[in-house]
Amino acid sequence: MIKKLFSAAGLLLLLSCSQSRQLQSTSGNTASSEKGLKDYYADYFTMGVAVSPRALKTDEAALVLQQFNSLTPENAMKMGPIHPKETEYNWAGADSIVQFAQRNKLKVRGHTLCWHNQTPSWLFVDDKGNTVSKEVLLQRLKDHIFTVVNRYKGSVYAWDVVNEAISDKPDEYLRPSQWLKICGEEYIAKAFQWAHEADPNAVLFYNDYNEISPVKREKIYRLVKSLKDAGVPIHGIGLQGHWAVNEPSREQLESTLQRFAGLGLKLQITELDISVYPKEHDARERRPEDANTAFTAEREQQQLEKYKMAFELFRKYKKVISGVTFWNISERYSWLDNFPVKNRKDYPLLFDKDLKPKKAYWEVVKW
Ligand code: GLA
Repeated sequence: MIKKLFSAAGLLLLLSCSQSRQLQSTSGNTASSEKGLKDYYADYFTMGVAVSPRALKTDEAALVLQQFNSLTPENAMKMGPIHPKETEYNWAGADSIVQFAQRNKLKVRGHTLCWHNQTPSWLFVDDKGNTVSKEVLLQRLKDHIFTVVNRYKGSVYAWDVVNEAISDKPDEYLRPSQWLKICGEEYIAKAFQWAHEADPNAVLFYNDYNEISPVKREKIYRLVKSLKDAGVPIHGIGLQGHWAVNEPSREQLESTLQRFAGLGLKLQITELDISVYPKEHDARERRPEDANTAFTAEREQQQLEKYKMAFELFRKYKKVISGVTFWNISERYSWLDNFPVKNRKDYPLLFDKDLKPKKAYWEVVKW
């Protein structure tokens, strides 16, 4: 009898706790929601986040596990960090992220095999400092891709094979990078071909930003279509999604998703964040008005509306979208704290610095 009473009281207590947790959750005041983004979106797409090896050793790790089911190494797999010298690979950071993912059954997106930025200094030159030939550079790219993809075969399910090859100048098609200057356009197709040979099961993406611009969008479309038509193994388009409170508009985002969906490949939003400052594409010097970095109610509201709209469309396009990845975990750190203005705090993500969900979070999971 005593036992029964005891357990009935326990049950009541349990019920009231979970009720109050739910209430708290919908009011957006607590991080104790039991469900995470990955659960709300289980019938839609994977929910990912870009991480550093260090973040996974802090209390952010628990938040990552609660909310996400996919990881992207923010920097650890880029050519510079992972392949600092021709004969030297630095696996430590990437390995620790992959091991964390394996221990906890998360997916991993590899980022990135070929990019013009964060390249190691040896890559484009010989030991005398002269620019290498096309043959040498392509061989280096091939070796790099085979070594990296092979190491993570079976644990990295998708790769951003080529990142940002399109030019931002309206009248220029491809970015005049060292890759293009030395190898010509074929380095792009070769990179995909080699990634596919190294891991035939990996899902291969072309990844780029400002995909919402009608001009750049058409160039990305043209590139991906030409690769597809030529039989190059490309399986998806990564839309980075570094957006802001003032863009994209609903129409702009919908026409972007519609256009790319027409290619018949999978789409992923690969680097999502929504800056509270109006979009600027180029780094610039600090101005006096940049001192106003408060996360005001107005900024919070504008951001929340953008997030709400974006996820409404992501859900609408769930047939073609296979993943959404946030670029960083919480407002403790975002690359936007230093871009386009150095040392200007931004608040582009769904979790604040105490790792609590912001109002925007509840807009994303409520429909
Ligand atoms: C681009 C790259 C990312 C990252 C961001 C800034 O979007 O693809 O790897 O460097 O810029 O963090």
